[in-house]
Amino acid sequence: MSKFIINGRQPLGGQIKVGGAKNLALKIIPASLLSDQPIIIDNLPDIEDIKRSLEIIKSLGGLVDRQTDQCRIQTKNLATTIIPAELANKLRASIMFVGPILARMGQVSFPHPGGCVIGAGTRPIDLFLEGFRSFGAQIEFADGYYHLAAKQLSGANYFFTTISVTGTEALMMTAVLAAGQTVLENCAMEPEIVALADYLNSQGADISGAGTSTIIVNGVQSIGGGAFTVMPDRIETGTFALLAAASRCELLITDCFPDHISVLLNIFRKQGVNFERGDNWLKMLPSKNITAYSIKTHEYPGFPTDLQSPYTVLMTQAQGSSIVHETIYDRRLLFTDMLTQMGANIIMCDPHRVVINGPTPLHGRKLTSPDLRAGMAMVMAALIAEGKTEIDNIYQIERGYQQIAERLRAIGADIERVE
Ligand code: EPZ
Repeated sequence: MSKFIINGRQPLGGQIKVGGAKNLALKIIPASLLSDQPIIIDNLPDIEDIKRSLEIIKSLGGLVDRQTDQCRIQTKNLATTIIPAELANKLRASIMFVGPILARMGQVSFPHPGGCVIGAGTRPIDLFLEGFRSFGAQIEFADGYYHLAAKQLSGANYFFTTISVTGTEALMMTAVLAAGQTVLENCAMEPEIVALADYLNSQGADISGAGTSTIIVNGVQSIGGGAFTVMPDRIETGTFALLAAASRCELLITDCFPDHISVLLNIFRKQGVNFERGDNWLKMLPSKNITAYSIKTHEYPGFPTDLQSPYTVLMTQAQGSSIVHETIYDRRLLFTDMLTQMGANIIMCDPHRVVINGPTPLHGRKLTSPDLRAGMAMVMAALIAEGKTEIDNIYQIERGYQQIAERLRAIGADIERVE
């Protein structure tokens, strides 16, 4: 089992480049199955989840030619419509392959997706199944696999009773090849959804309304190939900004879109966190007193749940009391136990709310990363803590942050990756 060894309180600073958005790339790759033409993807992040996603393309019979951060995918001849369990169990986003295979091949089989421990129970997929059924798919469950079949998908009206990012993206993609018009209501509005729609429209799809709560898709017979560049990862951007604020350092964050984390920047202004910004860069500046500020996670453009855990670490260093209210996922606040062990003053009011009293000094501990974002939050806590921290289960971190140890060392961190 690999782990990180971190010696905290090293002076940090310098410059860090943001990678391509994981949660966009994980949709563009499955979307390649909608077309029998080759597609070329630039700025693909080099992370475990992307490797798993490309392995699924290969397991289906697709061709993948991966250079450094560019990838060519060709799915003209698919050999099977079964998504392999050993890959689906490691990747929640494996469910993004279901719609395109069903739309292209008329059938698909897949196991319940694994890979992410947060969220109600085993991360429900009821919205996906209801959506596919509304397109006319027959669904049965046997031998641990869902089996979906539909000669021809027909456009449908579907209302999301829970706002779901991947649910919105999955049904939007599938509707591209469904006959007739599809109206999706109460959709998620993340920037990655807009980018995905723009990409599909550039290939001949007819999608309007992405980025609003109502998306309309007029089905087409087929779409072409093309080239696509993955936009910067807004969660990496926000995470590095929060690390800089907590470690009171000057850090230039390049190749990012600060507009995609407006909610965090507006909170920084209220807290006295100093920064300067341009269209594609963000310069964090040392801040003396950071005032505590309560947040409630919310679908975009509200405070993103994926920045909740690094924000909670910052609140342990802020002056005063704050409430962090995690409204999207169960269990996404459980990692605060480890912050408490490191010296933070955190009271859990209920599974969705904690009160943090700061500032408190943190000291290093042995930790285990429960999920991707909590794992990165622990790295952040370890970097500002006194002494040595060991973090186990770092697969959960390397799923989403490419070469994170090297990149943090480049800004002054004392972090080693050991087997
Ligand atoms: C996406 O997950 C992201 N993952 C998550 O990022 C992110 O935290 C989340 O959106 C919210 O922003 C990817 O894009 C690959 P949801 P997603 O469906 O789409 C419930 C990370 O760290 N729900 O919007 O799976 C669900 O339980 C990951 O990069 C149903 O009830 O999240 C949750 O409570 C973590 N039924 C709520 O909806 C369903 O069928 C929102 O989940 C689907 C979801």
